[in-house]
Amino acid sequence: MPDHSQQAANPFYKGYFKSKELLGMGFKSVGENVKIAKNCTIVGLEKISLGNNIQIDEHVFIAANSGPLHVGDYVHIGGGSHLSCAGGITLSDFCGLSQGVRIYSATDDYTGFALTNATVPEKFKNVKIAPVFLGKHVLIGSGSVILPGVEIGIGSSVGALSLVNISLKEWGVYFGSPAKRIKARSQKLLALERELLSEKNVHFKCGKICV
Ligand SMILES: CC(C)(COP(=O)(O)OP(=O)(O)OC[C@H]1O[C@@H](n2cnc3c(N)ncnc32)[C@H](O)[C@@H]1OP(=O)(O)O)[C@@H](O)C(=O)NCCC(=O)NCCS
Repeated sequence: MPDHSQQAANPFYKGYFKSKELLGMGFKSVGENVKIAKNCTIVGLEKISLGNNIQIDEHVFIAANSGPLHVGDYVHIGGGSHLSCAGGITLSDFCGLSQGVRIYSATDDYTGFALTNATVPEKFKNVKIAPVFLGKHVLIGSGSVILPGVEIGIGSSVGALSLVNISLKEWGVYFGSPAKRIKARSQKLLALERELLSEKNVHFKCGKICV
């Protein structure tokens, strides 16, 4: 993950909005320690709920004007990612999207039986709309694409440049187009999660951080 801490004087670096500023912008909810890069484009703020400890990096585009986005705790959305939320997208606790990940919960009909694209009235189109759900600890590699209706089970990871067009089971490492399971993913990270949460004394149930 890029280290932005020394960038304050750099004119190319626009910085991040923090929780306090974000609270007044109209999001459905904003937790503690949320950072969103100032050059992101986000529409449908009222449909977006943000947990605690979230970082959304440069040039992320989130379209939540016609569907919700739920982001859990300790979630990172890498720069240049695109989230199309018409069918609803959930990123559970400890999820990570690397740079340039695209998640579509709505997509045009590519078979030729309907007109397509954003300029055409809805009645001529056959848009597939279905929710996308990423379970806890899911990690998506750079440049990967996730299609509507996909559910990725807890603890699974997806390698760079993969296409996820069907749901993936839990605790696997997957990659490719379409993504296939190559091996099991270790569950050692669960012990680290417990250690982190006990150090931080984070109370997920009430959503408050008591450091
Ligand atoms: C999928 C991944 C996790 C597998 O890593 P790994 O378990 O160390 O596996 P290996 O590198 O040993 O690869 C095993 C085989 O799969 C191939 N492979 C690995 N990742 C691949 C990918 N994304 N797409 C296609 N093939 C891939 C390797 O070339 C290798 O093939 P071979 O057996 O014919 O030599 C890793 O390759 C990956 O894509 N990580 C994502 C990295 C990323 O996006 N980082 C962004 C910053 S966080």
